[in-house]
Amino acid sequence: MKKILVLNGPNLALLGTREPEIYGRTTLADIVALVTAAAQEKGISVDAFQSDVEGELVAAIGCARGVYDGIILNPAAYTHTSVALHDAIKASGVPTVEVHLSNVYAREGYRHESLTAGVCAGQICGFGPAGYVLALEALSRGR
Ligand code: DQA
Repeated sequence: MKKILVLNGPNLALLGTREPEIYGRTTLADIVALVTAAAQEKGISVDAFQSDVEGELVAAIGCARGVYDGIILNPAAYTHTSVALHDAIKASGVPTVEVHLSNVYAREGYRHESLTAGVCAGQICGFGPAGYVLALEALSRGR
């Protein structure tokens, strides 16, 4: 494992101020710095990208094949709606770990279904920013 992509979906650029009682006060830049530091210790380099636009996330996953050894993906609300992201993850063949800061299963019913988790290597949710580091650990260990 040499290179991973940390991909974040809609509204996650607002972390730090967005519903802090649910998502905490850590910013997205802090999370990327956290994962990057943990990855550096393993000799893994990190690129990070956030978009509110579904098609941009689809395109980023589409371009990941042959470039990245793994993807840490928080699809945010698209988790629950996006067949396009499901298809992109499946088509890319790049091992992907789905991360959610909050425990989506302890929240509204419409957050209980993930259209993307089934084509990911696994899902980590409910551990806040640490989930991204746990995802890195999972990707670097493989199966
Ligand atoms: C989230 C959970 C989603 O249900 C929600 O739409 C988000 C953030 C999380 O990280 O907990 O935007 O993915």
